Amino acid sequence: MKVLVTGGLGYIGSHTCVELLNGDHDVIVVDNLYNSTIDVKDRIEKITSKNITFYQEDVCNAKAIDKIFRENKIDAVIHFAAYKAVGESVKLPIMYYENNLLSTLNICKVMLKHGCNNLVFSSSATVYGLPKSLPIKEDFPLSTTNPYGTTKLVNEQILTDICKANENFKCIILRYFNPIGAHKSCLLGENPKGIPNNLMPYIMRVASNNLKNTNAKNEAYSKLKVFGNDYNTPDGTGVRDYIHVVDLAKGHLKAIEHFDKLKGINFYNLGTGKGYSVLDLVNTYEKVNNVNVPYEIVKRRPGDIDACYADASKAYNELGWKAEYDIEDMCRDSYLYQQKYIKDHGDV
Ligand code: UFG
Repeated sequence: MKVLVTGGLGYIGSHTCVELLNGDHDVIVVDNLYNSTIDVKDRIEKITSKNITFYQEDVCNAKAIDKIFRENKIDAVIHFAAYKAVGESVKLPIMYYENNLLSTLNICKVMLKHGCNNLVFSSSATVYGLPKSLPIKEDFPLSTTNPYGTTKLVNEQILTDICKANENFKCIILRYFNPIGAHKSCLLGENPKGIPNNLMPYIMRVASNNLKNTNAKNEAYSKLKVFGNDYNTPDGTGVRDYIHVVDLAKGHLKAIEHFDKLKGINFYNLGTGKGYSVLDLVNTYEKVNNVNVPYEIVKRRPGDIDACYADASKAYNELGWKAEYDIEDMCRDSYLYQQKYIKDHGDV
C-alpha cells in the first residue's frame, strides 16, 4: 500500500515508518518538524535502505494536504501528528483543541475528496480516565481529565460520526498504553527537548547524569522524583502498561493490513497486558544496564491514577498482533539509544 504518515518523523511515527518500509509498503511522510528533526528521515532510510517521500507541511493546512493527495495515489493514512503533553494542554487548551482537532478534520475532508477510505488514528489509554476495573477492555466507559485527553476522545467521536455518514470510510483507532524503548539500531528513540514529563525519559537522564564526573552533573537530574508511594498498588507507586515502541509500530502495520477484513470504526488497545510500578521500572533499568538511578519520593502528581494496564486480546484475536518485547528489552534499548546519542552529540 501507499501510506501517508502524518507526524512520521516523531517518536512513534518514525518507528512505524520503519515497519511499513520493511513490510514493503510505500511511505509518504508529512511532518512540520514541530517536535522532530529532519535527520530522522535519513535515519529511517539508513535502517531500511529504502526512500520515503517527505513533505514539510502542517496537517492543519488543508491546501497543503490536498496537494499531497493530488501528487500521490494514497491508499491509507496513519495520523500521528498531534500535540501530546498533558501538563501543557492544561495551560494551553485552545492551542491543543485547535491543532489536534483541525488536523483530523482536514485529513478526513481531503481523504473523502480523493476517495481514500482507510485511516488509522493514534489514540491513547488516557480516554479510559479512571478505569472501573483492570485490565482495561475497549468497551469500558470513557472519560478524560485534561484537554490533551479530551482531544483524543473528541477525535474518536468525530471519526465515529464520519464512519457512520460515509459507509465506505474505515477507521482503526489504536489506544496506546505507555510506549518506551528505542530501535535496536540506536538510530531512533525518544529524547524530549527540555525536562521530560514522562517516567522513562526522566530515568534515562538521571542514570546518565549519575555516570558523569562531578563538574558536569546537572542538578535537575540528580534524582528521579517518584510521584507518590501511597497508591493502591503492590509497592505504593503508580502502575502502568509499558510497551516497546517497536511492538507498537508493528501494531500499525497489522492495522493497515487488516482494512480488507474490517468495516466502519474499530477500536484496539495496544499494550502488553502487564503492569509495572515506577519502582519496578527503576529497578529493572538499574539491573539490566548496570547503572544507578537515585530517587526520592515526592507528593502525587495531580491527575495520576493508581494503575492502568490493557486487555490487549482484541488486537490479538482480530489483527493477529501481540507485544513481543519484555520490560528488560525496553530498559536495555532505551539505555543503548541514549548512550549512542551521547556519543554522537556529546550530551543528551
Ligand atoms: N512518574 C514519576 N516521576 C516522573 C514521571 C512519572 O513518578 O518524573 C510516574 C507517574 O506518576 C506514573 C508513571 O510514572 O505513575 C508513568 O508516568 P508517565 O508520565 O510516564 O505516563 P502517564 O501514564 O502519566 O501518561 C502517559 C502519556 C499520556 C497518555 C497516558 C496514557 O504521557 O500521554 O500515558 O495512559 F495519555
